[in-house]
Formats: sequence, C-alpha cells, structure tokens
Amino acid sequence: MKIQISGNIGEYYVQTLCMLFFPGVKFSKAESADSALSAVVSVEDMGDTVSATVTLTNERGSETASASEEKNAHAKVSSEQIACGKAFFEAGRKLTGLNPSWGILTGVRPAKLAIADLNHGKSKNEVRNALTKEYLVTPKKASLVTEIAAVEKEIIDRVKPTSCSLYISIPFCPSRCSYCSFVSFTSAKLLGLLDSYLERLCHDINETVDTIRELGLDITTVYIGGGTPTTLNEKQLQILLDAITARIDPATLEEFTVEGGRPDTITEEKLRIIHEHGVNRVSINTQTLNDDVLELVGRKHTSAEFYRAFEMARKANIPIINTDLIAGLPGEGFCSFSDTIDRIIDLRPENLTFHTLAIKNAADFAQQKDHMKSMHMFSETSKCVDYSQLSAKNAGYIPYYIYRQKNTVNNLENVGFALPGTEGLYNIYMMEEIQTIFAVGAGAVSKMVSRDGKSIERIFEYKYPYEYLADPDGMKNKEKREKSLHFYHNIW
Ligand SMILES: C[S@@+](CC[C@H](N)C(=O)[O-])C[C@H]1O[C@@H](n2cnc3c(N)ncnc32)[C@H](O)[C@@H]1O
Ligand code: SF4
Repeated sequence: MKIQISGNIGEYYVQTLCMLFFPGVKFSKAESADSALSAVVSVEDMGDTVSATVTLTNERGSETASASEEKNAHAKVSSEQIACGKAFFEAGRKLTGLNPSWGILTGVRPAKLAIADLNHGKSKNEVRNALTKEYLVTPKKASLVTEIAAVEKEIIDRVKPTSCSLYISIPFCPSRCSYCSFVSFTSAKLLGLLDSYLERLCHDINETVDTIRELGLDITTVYIGGGTPTTLNEKQLQILLDAITARIDPATLEEFTVEGGRPDTITEEKLRIIHEHGVNRVSINTQTLNDDVLELVGRKHTSAEFYRAFEMARKANIPIINTDLIAGLPGEGFCSFSDTIDRIIDLRPENLTFHTLAIKNAADFAQQKDHMKSMHMFSETSKCVDYSQLSAKNAGYIPYYIYRQKNTVNNLENVGFALPGTEGLYNIYMMEEIQTIFAVGAGAVSKMVSRDGKSIERIFEYKYPYEYLADPDGMKNKEKREKSLHFYHNIW
C-alpha cells in the first residue's frame, strides 16, 4: 500500500490506521501486489482548529472524507491524530463497509486513556461517552475498557511509589508453535545452553536485586516469563528458584508467577518445587481444547495432557492458576472455540486470558494472511471473543487487564479475566506502566517509570541467548545498573 502524507502527522500512526481497514497490508514505495491500495492524508493547522482530509483507494474505487478538531494541548491524543483518525475512519468505512470496534484508538494500551480520565475525576459514564464520541469506539468496547480501567484504578491507587517488580526471562520452548508471535528458542543447540544461561541469569538476578536494594525500592511482584519457563528441568528450576528466594523472601511479595504454559513441560515434581518456593501463580495453557487444531498449530500436546497438567497444579496447591486461550486459530470456528470456553470455565481457573490471534511476519504461517482477511473469519472470531467475555462475566469473572497487538484478526483485543481478588497484578503494573520493572535475561526489557508516571525509560538486554552468553562480564546488566541509578537519582 502506498501512503502520501502532508502536514503534522506521523507515518506510523497513518500506517496503523491503514491496518484497521486493510489488515495484514504491507507498506511500500515500490509497485507491489497491494499497489491498488493507497492513502493520501493531509493535515492542516487552521489556527484554533486542525483539519484533516483523507482519500483512500482500493481496487473497487476511492472515498474521501474530512474532519476538523479543536486544539487541546492537554489531551492524551493530539488534535492532529483525532482529526486525521476521524477522517480516515469515515473514508475507510465508506470504502470497505468495515466499522472497526476500537474506532481510532490504535494503541496497545486502550485502558490508559480511560484510567487518565477517571483520575481526572470523570465518572464512568463520562469516560464511556468520550470513548464512543471522541474516539469512535463502539459502546460495547467502551463499556469493557471503562470497566477494566475502574478495576485497575483501584489496584493502581494502592501501589507505593517506591515499589517495583522483577521480570525474569526464559526465552526457550521445547518446540515452536506455528502461530507464536513471541521470541523463543527451540533448537537443540540453544536448549543445550540452558545450564550456562541459568548460571549467568542467577548472577544477573543477584546484581539486579543489589541495585534495587541500593535504590531503597521494594519488590512487590516477581514474574518468570517466556517462552516456556517450565522448559527448565527439575534441577534447573530448583537452581533458579533457590537463587531468587535466597535474595527475596516470597512472603513479602504480593505475587510470584511462573508462566509454565505448555502442559507437556509440566511434571508433579516441577510443581512441587514451584510451590515449595512460594510461587502463588502459574499458567497452564492450552489455547484450545480442540485436538485437531492443537495438532495443526504444532502445539505438541493434547487436550487430555492439558487436563492432566491442570489437575496436577490443583493438587500441588498453587493458589492461582491462569489459563491462556486464543480465538481465531486456523481450523477453529465458533462452535469449537465456544466449546473450549465452556469446558475451561467449568475447571474454574482463577485467571483466564483470552487472546485474539495476531499474525506476525515472523510466525511460521505468516503467508496465511488471507485467513485474516476473510469476512467469515472476521465474524467467527468476533463471535468467539464476545462469547468468551460474556461467558466469563456470567461465571463470576471480572475483566482486569487489556492489551492490543498489531495484526490481530478483526483488530480484536486480548483481555485478562479473574475471579475477584485474584487479579494478575504484574500484568496490570506492566501494561499500565505505573511501576518500574527490572528485567533480567536475554530479550528482557527493563522499564523505569518516574514517580508521576510521565517519564518512562526502557533499558534493553541482548535479544538472543548466544549474545547474552557472549558477554561474560555482563556489561549490559552493568549498563542497566548505571542507567537505573541515573534515572532514580535524576529523573524519578
Ligand atoms: C509468551 S506466550 C507463553 C506461554 C506458553 N509458552 C504457552 O505457549 O503456553 C503467552 C501467550 O501469548 C499468546 N500468544 C502467543 N502467540 C500469539 C499470537 N500469535 N496471537 C495471539 N496470542 C498469542 C498465547 O496465548 C500464549 O499462551
Ligand atoms: S506459544 Fe508458547 S510454547 Fe508455543 S512457541 Fe510460543 S512461547 Fe513457545
């Protein structure tokens, strides 16, 4: 798709708007298969207002629309973006017949805006109205995000400014699922590096906890994420959890998560070790209970293995079990997915995380973009998402966190549900960026958040395990220490 822009509006924002109406589209200055598609965007400063005109063209024709917006220096989204978004939305709707449910909200954190409005004293009704009128969000999604923002606000208001979280990255999996959009390593060669990876990781955890203590911060949540952390064998898991609990008393934590994930990596002994070290939240995921779909996406476990792993986690007395599901997997329609939802809710995991399939270029089946473009798939997946949310609510769960990814089927969202009082706190802190997160290990990204939440600084570790291990002095970790000291002494 070709884009032509004049005026004060970012190309990235325009590209995200294009993806609302032309999912999976590639942007190119050269002639390409999608070259019938184009967007011409012009944004003009008119003094007190900003005006935008957008012309969209596809193989069927062209549509033009204009919008103007009063300037408001204090708004979270700029007047240029709102005017451009509204004009884009109108032209896109006329040209394609689509009415994207998140309107012109293109960001990954839709609750942030609603939380900011609640913090400014707006009522839930006013927040909902602003979302539907200003940002063209459908009433259903506006209600969902307002409800989530209210739950999050109560939790966020209790967070002490001197608190922080610790994320530990285990970017390894026993094998790769075809849809996966996460960085994770599966080759035998890399899995063979796990012992040295762990040694280095434990060293970095120690140094990071030293820095946290020096800064006078309290760790409130620890999250071991992946990949699949339970790819570690029993001995390796013991070493990692020993290293963490030698420095952090689990009794002082609000939450300690091990994102287990794949049922085929779970054993009774691993769960015993996890429980013994004070972990109070694990994920046991299946994505779907349809065995044909599991096989098709290469997940290498069956629904029976999921049930067995879930039962083991219950018997191990881990207080909070989370289960991840994905709507829109290839080969799965509404009947199959709604059956999965019913059966999972019957198990009553404390947390449920409903994802919508996101197609990333890196994923093995990126070529299946047509799968995303089909209208049938759009309506099936929307029904699946609606069904999951409604069923969870009817079964006593509350939605407590939300995020969006690029290239999801029909631009739909990911939502975490919890039985009241079991909300995944790390997920909220991380998503709403209200607390500093120190992250350790390959691919880890630490995020320093200032006291007023207005300044955020990201500090990146090496992305790949072999780069991480090729830095024996842990220079990146030392750099992280210097940067975080600087942040807390000068910016925080
Ligand atoms: C970092 S992954 C780790 C979970 C664990 N390895 C597993 O697969 O059970 C977290 C979750 O992201 C979701 N996920 C991964 N790839 C996705 C995609 N392409 N679209 C939507 N959700 C995805 C899955 O629900 C997965 O459980
Ligand atoms: S979905 Fe989970 S198990 Fe599958 S490749 Fe991705 S991180 Fe690994």
